[in-house]
Amino acid sequence: MDLGGARTNILVPLLKEQTVIGFFGLYRQEVCPFSEKQIALLESFAAQAVIAMENARLYAEAQERTLQLEVVTRVTQEVSTRDVSHELPGILRTIIHQIRRVVPCDYAALALYNEEDDSFLFETVYDFAVRDWADLPPGNEQLRRQISLRYVGMGLSQPMEEIVVTNGALEALNLCLMAVTRPGDVVAVESPGFYAALQAIERLDLRAVEIPVDPASGLDLDALAAALQTHPVRACWFMTNFQNPTGATLSIEKKKALVELLAKHDVPLIEDDVYGELHFQPEYPLPALAFDKHGLVMHCSSFSKTLAPGYRIGWACAGRFTDKVQRLKLMTTLSASIPAQAGIADYLQYGGYDKHLRKLRASLQAQLREMEAAIARLLPRGVRVTHPAGGYFVWLELPEHVDALTLHRQAIEQGVSLAPGPIFSASRNFRHCVRLNFGHPWNADIERAVQVLGELITQAT
Ligand SMILES: Cc1ncc(COP(=O)(O)O)c(C=O)c1O
Repeated sequence: MDLGGARTNILVPLLKEQTVIGFFGLYRQEVCPFSEKQIALLESFAAQAVIAMENARLYAEAQERTLQLEVVTRVTQEVSTRDVSHELPGILRTIIHQIRRVVPCDYAALALYNEEDDSFLFETVYDFAVRDWADLPPGNEQLRRQISLRYVGMGLSQPMEEIVVTNGALEALNLCLMAVTRPGDVVAVESPGFYAALQAIERLDLRAVEIPVDPASGLDLDALAAALQTHPVRACWFMTNFQNPTGATLSIEKKKALVELLAKHDVPLIEDDVYGELHFQPEYPLPALAFDKHGLVMHCSSFSKTLAPGYRIGWACAGRFTDKVQRLKLMTTLSASIPAQAGIADYLQYGGYDKHLRKLRASLQAQLREMEAAIARLLPRGVRVTHPAGGYFVWLELPEHVDALTLHRQAIEQGVSLAPGPIFSASRNFRHCVRLNFGHPWNADIERAVQVLGELITQAT
């Protein structure tokens, strides 16, 4: 029914046994009538909402009369007998979301008939631009459910209650670090490792102990065991899949051994897994989280590498530290962007995220092949390169006398960007190493960049 005016409105009655018990109202800011097909869809969603509400009401009544659940089974017959009363707002919200996918609108309202004073009660007004406060920490419920479901896809049971939505993975990592350390504490980091870990340690007045990373096999567990003996390590910040900068992935055995070692010392692991979804093998390489029995692993990731960094949506599965991380989130930045959370939640549920990931992985793998071929063709002999099974990065070990910082400066002068090894360690090691990024679609400019790099390395030799 078009009520005219500057907006377009539609009200669909909610019917129970031929009686009107409420309305669904959808509103558009512009004048643009709803089609018959959209109205029919809306009616079928309205029927779903009635069943959900009926279920909740019957259950509440049964409970009030202290009746057993079986009674509810008989009363409701074909509908679910689960207690859905507390889930009702979520169910209705999901229905409204589904409606919005097929019937675009600016906001929706649900009016229920109030028998007591013979009026209609506006139960839910759902504004799609400014959503309600339910998205404050731990974050948008639908998004956390979708993230939790992705863990199920990996074979992991990750309760959504332990997922805290953050402004990108970087905030998740920082909050986890804050949750388990105090100024002066020692934190184990990788070397070479992601420089943001060192920056966070410096900012929080912590001390870093560097654990060597082998470019092929990843973290040196013997060195970690020795560090745990000799230093009062309060936390570890490691990448287990497609490490930045080497691209190394820990084997399943090493991940298990890592988790066991840390459990023995009761040391939490902040696991940075931002590239985990970008695997070239068919399966997600299980994170260390998969082997954690004590809630000691805090698994952090985001949609920055798989969708776009600008959404700034990440999360921490914070295990036994969830409450603390949640509180810190509230105290620091309050909430991640509410529209971005809602948009990504919707995309995960309906938008074909897995299809997108399959395409992205195939592109990245093809780009890696191009990069490896160009390196073999255009760089001088004696350059060693890693062969990652996912992610964005390859790590180059150049002949010992080549200075990566000089190379970086010379490359920039020719419009070529690379990441020099020393930025990946507190002790400024890796002077003859560089990280290259194969995250961009291959083209003649990238080919030329590798050629320039080859020439500069040869000149330095
Ligand atoms: C290893 C690693 N961890 C975390 C981040 C930060 O991710 P986000 O953009 O989601 O904060 C990055 C981004 O560059 C990264 O490379």
